[in-house]
Amino acid sequence: MNPFEQKPIQLKDCIMDWCTVYPKPYNKMEADPYTKVRIILMNGIEVESIIFKHQFQRNCNNNDIRRELALSRRIEQQQKHINWLKPIDETPLETTIGYEHVAVDLTAWLAQNEPNPYVKQALDFALLEDFDHLYRYANLLDLDKQIPSQQLVKSFVDITPGRPTIAEHRFPFDSVRNPIDSKTADIRTKLNTLIITAAEQQTMNFYMNLGNYYYNDLGRQLYLEIAMIEEQHVTHYDSLLDPNCTWLENLLLHEYMECYLYYSFYQNEVCQNTKSIWEMHLEQEIAQLHQAAALLKKYENKDWQQVIPDGNFPKLLTFHDTREYVRQVLAQQVCLTANREGYIPVTELPQDHEFFFYQNRVNHDVNSVPSHKVVKEHQMKFNVDYRAEAQPNPVPELSDRTNDNTQIARTR
Ligand SMILES: [Fe+2]
Ligand SMILES: [Fe+2]
Ligand SMILES: [Fe+2]
Ligand SMILES: [Fe+2]
Repeated sequence: MNPFEQKPIQLKDCIMDWCTVYPKPYNKMEADPYTKVRIILMNGIEVESIIFKHQFQRNCNNNDIRRELALSRRIEQQQKHINWLKPIDETPLETTIGYEHVAVDLTAWLAQNEPNPYVKQALDFALLEDFDHLYRYANLLDLDKQIPSQQLVKSFVDITPGRPTIAEHRFPFDSVRNPIDSKTADIRTKLNTLIITAAEQQTMNFYMNLGNYYYNDLGRQLYLEIAMIEEQHVTHYDSLLDPNCTWLENLLLHEYMECYLYYSFYQNEVCQNTKSIWEMHLEQEIAQLHQAAALLKKYENKDWQQVIPDGNFPKLLTFHDTREYVRQVLAQQVCLTANREGYIPVTELPQDHEFFFYQNRVNHDVNSVPSHKVVKEHQMKFNVDYRAEAQPNPVPELSDRTNDNTQIARTR
């Protein structure tokens, strides 16, 4: 499928009336977890589209382009059409379980389909951190409401410690990666880096805005701590993006990414209502892709092929059980930390490394670290933590359900 070869609809025909833009929500107990995952991801993709186009406008002095962007941003209000699929009775914490489920399964899929080894390493690295967030939030949900998160994710993903959140806090200098070069990068790498950046940015926004609505201190503290890591993840991923792309080249890539994802999800959506939304939005994105290509031609005299040499979509994105892959990465990489643009086992860091300065600064009182506290309180109340795993945790140091390990991946 090559979206550049499709006949686009008119941009004005993409504007929705109130009845169309307000969707029929899914049923939180019956919906396929991957339908929820696709909805959460596409909401984040649309948010990125909107924010990107606002930033573009602020850096553009041509009102003809700014008007095109304004029209295009209005069409990107597809975001509302998607985000309102969330039902009234789904709580923010239940949605949060979905966010971390997205982070795990999306990151694992991208890592398994990433041709650039440096980008793959970046994905594997952060995968283990979001995997641990899922476990911490699941403990909060079980502690406060006795709702087993396993019911929400329907056993498609293990809930067990990853690289412990307490070990993820690093000095900011160690979160900046080397950017890719979009002149030579594979289209899969360009798509993967844009997709994961959008997903992590939405997770950051969600926690930073809704974390303080939680109804008790421990929950508010947990959101605050994990929101810090999501900001770190956004730095980690958006530093991979090519800073030499022009705004219009970047616009084209954004529209192409949206076409690719809607087409992928249209192909494998099991919920008919949601599938029809993916189909409608795909049409709208194809129209926007053609608009972006026309703007690139008009203002930079470049053909779309100079940015996307082959318009045919690469392998489509499909969510599936990634438990085996995650277990393998966890077994091999749990002890890694970041060191400037690269990664290193914590045990090999010199004593005076900034990692230890930062850890000491924020975590000097281990018992006040929320991600540890939530598991400890669960253990105090129920004797063991909350976890749901098909097989025991592949890291023996993380297998004790009565004692949360705060040393691994953190101390020399
Ligand atoms: Fe969109
Ligand atoms: Fe996360
Ligand atoms: Fe994350
Ligand atoms: Fe778009």
